[in-house]
Amino acid sequence: MKNYCHILLISFCLIQQALQAQFNNYFLPPVLNGPVYNLNMQNGTREFFPGITTKTKGFNGSLLGPTLIMQAGQQVTMNVTNSIGEETTVHWHGLHVAPENDGGPHTVIDPNTTWSPEFKVLDKAGTYWYHPHAHELTAKHVLQGLAGLIIVKDAEEAALTLPRTYGVDDFPLIIQTKAINSIGGIGYDGSIPNTDNNLMVNGVINSQLNVPRQMIRLRILNGSNQRVFNLGLSDNAGFYHIATDGGLKNTRSFLTRLQLAPGERAEIVVPFGNYSAGTRLQLMSYGNELPNGTWGAKEAWINFVNLPAPGYEPNYMNGAAFPVLEFLVTALINPNSVNTPPPFTLGSYTPIPKSEATVTREKWLFSGGNNGTNGTGVRIGESSSYAQATAFDMGKLNDTIPFNNTEIWTLHGAIDQYHPFHIHDVQFYILDRKDSLNNNIPLTSNELGRKDVVYVGPKETVRFITKFDDFHGDVPYMYHCHITVHEDKGMMKQFSVNKMLYVDKNHTLEEKGDFYWPFRTLTSAVTAATDGTTITFKSSDIHEELSKSLLIQKKIILKIRGTSVVVQ
Ligand code: C2O
Ligand code: CU
Ligand code: CU
Repeated sequence: MKNYCHILLISFCLIQQALQAQFNNYFLPPVLNGPVYNLNMQNGTREFFPGITTKTKGFNGSLLGPTLIMQAGQQVTMNVTNSIGEETTVHWHGLHVAPENDGGPHTVIDPNTTWSPEFKVLDKAGTYWYHPHAHELTAKHVLQGLAGLIIVKDAEEAALTLPRTYGVDDFPLIIQTKAINSIGGIGYDGSIPNTDNNLMVNGVINSQLNVPRQMIRLRILNGSNQRVFNLGLSDNAGFYHIATDGGLKNTRSFLTRLQLAPGERAEIVVPFGNYSAGTRLQLMSYGNELPNGTWGAKEAWINFVNLPAPGYEPNYMNGAAFPVLEFLVTALINPNSVNTPPPFTLGSYTPIPKSEATVTREKWLFSGGNNGTNGTGVRIGESSSYAQATAFDMGKLNDTIPFNNTEIWTLHGAIDQYHPFHIHDVQFYILDRKDSLNNNIPLTSNELGRKDVVYVGPKETVRFITKFDDFHGDVPYMYHCHITVHEDKGMMKQFSVNKMLYVDKNHTLEEKGDFYWPFRTLTSAVTAATDGTTITFKSSDIHEELSKSLLIQKKIILKIRGTSVVVQ
């Protein structure tokens, strides 16, 4: 008996050692402070698995990028150098910037050149991120490692009793799953099977974060291609939820689960003071609780009983509860940091009342018509007809939004799978979510606040309200599915925010448009108009049906709605 115990103990110790040995130290991304940020996109390598060299990309390093700390109101200069050998762009996801500073697919950074936008930080304190957005290359560049966090600070947040010492009681978590093959490639387009069965936090597999026994703030980004996480602690204890995509919630909430779709962020505060030093627990993702039709649930697609999503299986995360990050609770190391629960009242945003909206836009999210195979054919339509929905076209402006418009956007979910919808330029407020029978589905805590990404489940209808203020111009902003492979395959469209044209002259001019900017030509035609002439619109692109001459005799407002010119 004694011997038996002894053997058990030894094997227990061995298991313990093996368990401990399998963890890698949490990686804290370095910080860059402004007002000038120098970012160099470069190629590198990593050994995620012993003996296998994987080709990666990073900002100022071989993987991911530094955390950019910005102050609200600050004028910043971003010097972004492209050393990756192919063209790309860098987008400031969630920041409210002018279209030419937004880093969408039109704002290409050629290899060996530097792009230096300058802008004022107009955002609220919160957690944002940056990543490439090149035409058909977003998934590749992001999955190979080009992504980093932006932390905006402001006076409102600074006045609150919250943990905010970076790397001490305030930790970023960039959660990503990647497909890595045995010869060191990272999958992004099906060339390497999409099976995203490698989970990393800040670029580290099996990461362990040592946390002092106190209130710890976690800034979490789902930076994955398509996997949704349903986060919770392994002992199901609660945590405080304090911020959504666009900053602090008005009031904190106390949660045991937090769902994050790709592109979404949240900030939480975990009361680790409730554990004794030496306790191990995990940040889990309870994929077993996700509804089918969500990448991460048992079935990624529904309605295709005999047609599983390609590359989905085998993957230990599908429909399962699995650890994302290991916590080891340590003795209180920083008695000076905040160790009280977050205040009940936090931010001070005012959701826009529905009554202020003057326009409702309907957008249908399609997974590929009736077949839904391979994610090809994913697109966004303006009606329920898949046949009429078009894939992303760089040369086609899809929506022209009058400057300062307040609008409600209605998103209609695909029948077979979820899509995380993202729009540039603005933060929005989610109004409601309905199921296919028009029953209300309550919004979650992470949906009640300022948002720039929203999960749209199969057959759901989700509405949000937003205002397109501060910036206008010809460079388009994007809206798209934040499943990056969907975005690259055409599930993206573009809009510009334009001042209305006041015309009090008549002018004859054939409005031809050019490949990229048909609307710009119209603008200049109207600007150049002289008294007593007629304007003829003959573009075959965005306002094709109106080919008759318009005799303009008084001050009018021209609006482009969808594909037709509306004269008021
Ligand atoms: Cu996170 Cu259009 O992007
Ligand atoms: Cu964005
Ligand atoms: Cu999608």
